[in-house]
Amino acid sequence: MTRYAELAGELATLIEKGVLRAGERMPSTRKLSGNRKLSVATVMQAYYLLEDSGLIAARPRSGYYVNANWKDARAQPQLSKPPQRAAAMDVSELVFEVLGEIRKRNALPLGSAFPSPLLFPLPKLAQLLGQSARRLDPWKTVEDMSPGNPELRRQIAKRYSVHGVRMLPDDIVITSGALEALNLCLQAVTRAGDVVAIESPAFYGALQAIERLGLKAVAVATHPREGVDLGSLDKAIRKHGVKACWLMPTFQNPLGALMPDGKKKELVELLATHRVPLIEDDVYAELYFGAVRPLPAKAYDRAGLVMHCSSFSKSVAPGYRVGWCAPGIFAQKIERLKLSTSIATSIPVQGGLAEYLKHGGYDHHLRGLRRAFQAQQADMLRAIQKYFPLATRATRPAGGYFLWVELPPTVDALALHRRALKKGISITPGPLFAPGKQFANCVRLNYGHPWSEQLEAALLTLGRMATAMA
Ligand SMILES: Cc1ncc(COP(=O)(O)O)c(C=O)c1O
Repeated sequence: MTRYAELAGELATLIEKGVLRAGERMPSTRKLSGNRKLSVATVMQAYYLLEDSGLIAARPRSGYYVNANWKDARAQPQLSKPPQRAAAMDVSELVFEVLGEIRKRNALPLGSAFPSPLLFPLPKLAQLLGQSARRLDPWKTVEDMSPGNPELRRQIAKRYSVHGVRMLPDDIVITSGALEALNLCLQAVTRAGDVVAIESPAFYGALQAIERLGLKAVAVATHPREGVDLGSLDKAIRKHGVKACWLMPTFQNPLGALMPDGKKKELVELLATHRVPLIEDDVYAELYFGAVRPLPAKAYDRAGLVMHCSSFSKSVAPGYRVGWCAPGIFAQKIERLKLSTSIATSIPVQGGLAEYLKHGGYDHHLRGLRRAFQAQQADMLRAIQKYFPLATRATRPAGGYFLWVELPPTVDALALHRRALKKGISITPGPLFAPGKQFANCVRLNYGHPWSEQLEAALLTLGRMATAMA
């Protein structure tokens, strides 16, 4: 991460939050370089980045000003309009095909679901895993089966409490990653043929789970910044007799939408009046760029209907396969389902993670990770602005590591994906995130990898290909 990209990311946030207003003069480069102890050249580079992304503009002999139309200049996708019907899913084949193609190590990983594994403290984790496995009380291999290692559950509960969410260790069931937690929750509250409400676009893991259990999905209009539209959700519940909602109120995959706190509260209250459980996927919540961790919908749960799921896969321990679920009134059901499907999550690994949370420097690691993602997002948005066709729209999430990019309508994202692969570049095409032929001109791009000349070149190549197809 470069210092100028980091500074540009910080200034972009100030503009987006209205601290620096449209039309206002930016601090002079000399003043900023003095305050930040950066060279004038570094500050200038940051200003060039902001200028490229349409946030600021230079005025002759007067300095830089916040662009009056910066919101238009950096056009974002709008509320989605999915068809209002409940349908069986048939995306699994396409998802397996595309994910198989993009997993190769030598492809430039814009289509990857994971950030760079090199950004994680794997040596520290390995050390603590070794220590805790050597000290493991043999009886723990029996006692720590589901709901899981008590110390790990205590550490997880403590993290929620620190962020203002009431949660006790006994509320938590440890699972093999968030995906197992989400699948167990869906299985616990539905039967084949039931209708589940999802976002539009939605995480393909949700579509696959719905398909596997023989359920139907109704996709609900979703705003790229604020998440699912509550009026449309209410209508869908009434019309289709929805039995569960599977949503990501915080840094939704693929949009990156962050539902505001008040709206999360309203969502929980709306579902409580309909007695519909909310399966909340919160896997990206620790990757926020703002000052505080966004509250989960679970924080507003009074009826125990929110089945909150998360994991360490995205924030500290990819591949360790440790996640959890706080399933409210469904706790016993989930515990039993977990026991009857996989008995327990690896007990030595749970112990190692508990040690890491206790004294491994998790928060320090997270601060670095968030800074890296925020700066990399600024780099990618700048490259999109520079290389992609004019009518391209991209989201600017306040956390996570995905951008959702809407290309001109004539661009076929699946064809773009196949052409890009031939050049050694992976992307995730839009049709993976919805049933039918929706989002045919959209792609999800991963900015979870340190910016490099190769990534810059990959964006240029993609931009040229998309321009040729537009
Ligand atoms: C939105 C979302 N939910 C859940 C998961 C699964 O998480 P885990 O790896 O912890 O099972 C992923 C992983 O790609 C994801 O992107």
